[in-house]
Amino acid sequence: MALIQARQHRHPIVTSTDTRDPVRLDVTTGRTASTILIGGGSVEQLPALLDAHSVSARRFVVSSPTIWRLHGAEVQRVLGAVEPILLPDGERYKNLQSVTKVYDALIRANADRGSAIVAVGGGVVGDTAGFAAATFLRGITLVHVPTTLLAQVDSSIGGKVGVNHTLGKNLIGAFHQPRLVVIDPLLLQTLPRREFRSGLYEVVKYGMIASRNLFDLLSHKTKAVFDREPSVLVPAIVESCRIKADVVSKDEREGGLRRILNYGHTIGHALEAVTKYRRYRHGEAIAYGMLAAADLAVARGALAEGERQALVQLIGALGPLPPVTDLPMQEVLDAVKRDKKVLNGRLHFVIAIEIGATMTIDDVTEPELVAVLERLGLSHS
Ligand SMILES: NC(=O)c1ccc[n+]([C@@H]2O[C@H](COP(=O)([O-])OP(=O)(O)OC[C@H]3O[C@@H](n4cnc5c(N)ncnc54)[C@H](O)[C@@H]3O)[C@@H](O)[C@H]2O)c1
Ligand SMILES: [Zn+2]
Repeated sequence: MALIQARQHRHPIVTSTDTRDPVRLDVTTGRTASTILIGGGSVEQLPALLDAHSVSARRFVVSSPTIWRLHGAEVQRVLGAVEPILLPDGERYKNLQSVTKVYDALIRANADRGSAIVAVGGGVVGDTAGFAAATFLRGITLVHVPTTLLAQVDSSIGGKVGVNHTLGKNLIGAFHQPRLVVIDPLLLQTLPRREFRSGLYEVVKYGMIASRNLFDLLSHKTKAVFDREPSVLVPAIVESCRIKADVVSKDEREGGLRRILNYGHTIGHALEAVTKYRRYRHGEAIAYGMLAAADLAVARGALAEGERQALVQLIGALGPLPPVTDLPMQEVLDAVKRDKKVLNGRLHFVIAIEIGATMTIDDVTEPELVAVLERLGLSHS
């Protein structure tokens, strides 16, 4: 049964050598408005942007040692001599202990309701600092300066913040929209290649769910994207953010439309869970999830085989993925069923019906899933 059908964003993507003019997007949800600014060198404009968005002068920068070593001097140059709150790097530190570290620093510095947190980092820093901002004194202003591609196109937009519990990922969280998101693609120059590729798979996802133009841009300019050429990278980030901002503005709390952002995530999350979040970067697991979703769609006659081939080709061109063939089928199936997208006993599954348009189905059967996982290469042993 088709539940929701989402159509394409059809406006053209303009690639350009002049990427200095920041692009502004707005996310409006029930009570709040966020502004997203995207542009090469936009970090330079941070002080003016913070002032223009009435972000208090009492700003607390949260980052990690790795990111601060690479970009701290630049942030200090523009913001003045800030003393950052540094959280240890890595997914395993996205926990309540790191949140407490932020609270401790805020309390010691007499932070008040008018204070603001500026999160400079990837999704781990953003989610953790964001959760601290959502909860300290029942919520203070949050600004994101995302430094990974994944954070620039995904985690900094939409207001989901939170941390992991030892028993599961993202179990503790809140919705807290950032006042401002400043996206500077030049910060990505220092990002390790694998992290960069991991973010690219989410960009592919936006193409699959909402924009054939974005998908084509990645397919035709793969090398320029890999080389992080601003003339291609900036438009790809802008288009991704535009899609996420648009979806979140229409459905902040994942009542319906926001589910399309989970394209590739049903099986992707299962692969991550079964390998204890160690084998794949998030985007890599999502790449497999998208391949599986496309396969399911073709098997149902909902997607043309040529469209699936285009996805296979693009994912192939983005580089090797860690293997899946040794993963036990039953464990993956169990993990899919445990996923939070199972509502009232039915598994909600987003499929693309063409590149750029999706629908949600809720009648996927176990034999169908098994067949898809078999074709992905999993075995029953
Ligand atoms: N809130 C949301 O809506 C949302 C959406 C998607 C993902 N997430 C969360 O995001 C997290 C993953 O985020 P991530 O992929 O950004 O990982 P991450 O924050 O762990 O960053 C990856 C690595 O890159 C390093 N790094 C960051 N910026 C760098 C730079 N500019 N140069 C060099 N190195 C840099 C970091 O130190 C880290 O080692 C997960 O916890 C996930 O749950 C949240
Ligand atoms: Zn994702």
